Amino acid sequence: MLQSILENRIHLANLPTRIEYLERTSKRYGFNLYIKRDDLTDIAASGNKIRKLEFLFKDAMNKRADTVLTCGGIQSNHCRATAAIAAKLGMKSVLILRGKKEPIYDGNLLLDKLLGADVVYVTPEEYKKVDEVFEVESERLRKRGRKPYIIPEGGSNEIGFLGYVNAAREMKEQIESMDIHPRYVFTAVGSAGTYAGLFLGKKLFDMDYELIGVNVTKDPEEKFVKRVENIIGRFLGNYKFSQVDFDEEEIEIIPGAGIGYAMSTDEELTQIVNVAKVEGLILDPVYTVKCFLHMLEYLRQKAVRDEDVLFFHTGGIYGIYPNKERLTKIIDGK
Ligand SMILES: Cc1ncc(COP(=O)(O)O)c(C=O)c1O
Repeated sequence: MLQSILENRIHLANLPTRIEYLERTSKRYGFNLYIKRDDLTDIAASGNKIRKLEFLFKDAMNKRADTVLTCGGIQSNHCRATAAIAAKLGMKSVLILRGKKEPIYDGNLLLDKLLGADVVYVTPEEYKKVDEVFEVESERLRKRGRKPYIIPEGGSNEIGFLGYVNAAREMKEQIESMDIHPRYVFTAVGSAGTYAGLFLGKKLFDMDYELIGVNVTKDPEEKFVKRVENIIGRFLGNYKFSQVDFDEEEIEIIPGAGIGYAMSTDEELTQIVNVAKVEGLILDPVYTVKCFLHMLEYLRQKAVRDEDVLFFHTGGIYGIYPNKERLTKIIDGK
């Protein structure tokens, strides 16, 4: 049954994504660092969201929807990926973005607009009641004869998270054939669907690494632990799947927002510059660099040496562009 659930999707992403060894970083820190290149899933729809959208768009099409609505921050990778897939499949997208229209589009927002998305800008206060905004916008669309489909923030529900159950299966095959044995697997947590999928995948496919999520928001970790439990619980309930046993304590989500969601310190931006120079790899400012830095700190505190560690690069490259002024100063040493 699991096999057929995981095939109930539209194949959109370039899969499997490679697992690469980061030689110089590994030598420097004394453990073997492998990176799963989910930043290479696509160009316009690159990053982790496309894996979830394969399942969500399948559901939308089954329901004969012609317009997808979703929401996120002004530089949301998820919204950009949704706009890209909608355009590719001949559908319309409506993005509810927390923020203000700016005179010149940049980063993900520039791509949203290029990809033909309709953008509804809302204040942080309005965003807190985003379900109401979804309702108003859906009603407006229905009156115009369209058939809306709502994708929740980050695509993180019991449908979207299957993208990362699938990624866990893919990773298992890869680590077995590469003969690597990750003791720890790290991923950034923004809306927790990626973590939930990897967590259930680890259980279903019998893998024994510790999965550590780095919470890049200022919301408490407990909120995401509950969300992971809810997503998995709803999935198991829907499919009347035999119960999968796990303890809440196994869901390990650590704080990692620093000064705030989508806010960067000079240390974080400097790390982006360093990893780019040393490994030819671009981390993003909102998710992956924070996850990377907290991974290093976590492993330092545990004095981990000579073990295999796997880091999910979940994408987000377009997020560097709105940071171009600060990055220029750091690169030029000013
Ligand atoms: C680049 C990137 N990495 C990680 C995440 C976190 O994934 P999730 O929302 O499933 O926790 C997101 C989205 O929120 C993202 O855009």
